[in-house]
Amino acid sequence: MKSARSLIATLIACACVIAPATASARTYTAGAEATFAPFESLNQKREVVGFDADIIAAIGKKTGLDIKMVNTPWEGLFMSLNNGDIDIAASAITITPDRQKTMDFSQPYFEAQQLIVVPEGSKIASMADLKGKKIGVQTGTTGDIVAQDAFGKTSPNIRRYESITLAVQELRDGGLQAVIGDNAVVKNYLKNNPGAKFKLVDDKGFKKEYYGIAVRKGNKQLLDQINKGLGAIKADGSYQTIYNKYFGK
Ligand code: ARG
Repeated sequence: MKSARSLIATLIACACVIAPATASARTYTAGAEATFAPFESLNQKREVVGFDADIIAAIGKKTGLDIKMVNTPWEGLFMSLNNGDIDIAASAITITPDRQKTMDFSQPYFEAQQLIVVPEGSKIASMADLKGKKIGVQTGTTGDIVAQDAFGKTSPNIRRYESITLAVQELRDGGLQAVIGDNAVVKNYLKNNPGAKFKLVDDKGFKKEYYGIAVRKGNKQLLDQINKGLGAIKADGSYQTIYNKYFGK
């Protein structure tokens, strides 16, 4: 009788020791460069909010993962992931073969493409029309790559900025003739800044891009959880609810 009781006590003690060691007990950090509304921006409390933050929170709810969004500069985001400063990068990141060499991506969670932003009166109607014009991009983004593919990696006309917001501000100030950026982000800017008097130009050559959530290469355990969560929020309609909140029906 006595030994049975002490056995139970021992089992309870063991369970207590083991419990905190499970994966759900730790907090994961997800980096996002928060000048990219509606995907990521800072609210007044300086918390990262937006589509990506909602998706990450919904994945957390489904999987039990405790994930905290942290504002992380775009330049250095991938390095922060690789050196362990953050566990996840969730920053409207386009999955590209090049990036897949150094990071692992979740299933795609958003379809995008590039668009050209120009002043309302501009005659620019295609990428070809940008020849010889000063073009603003966010450094190292797919907008930068599209510009490099068209005008060469070393073209002095490609002006690189830390954020798309800074590039668009320079266009507003007259220092650029165009900006190339992700469609949903530049559309959001035009909607919120009618005074800027910009219009958007599509080009037949712009390819479809897909955003993915990145983890360190080989971090299969975390990636599987993220994919499981993404699958679950797509299946139960919570993905759609978040989508509608930012982009309408
Ligand atoms: N989708 C583009 C890319 O992956 C731009 C992403 C920029 N994201 C951001 N939060 N600033 O290159």
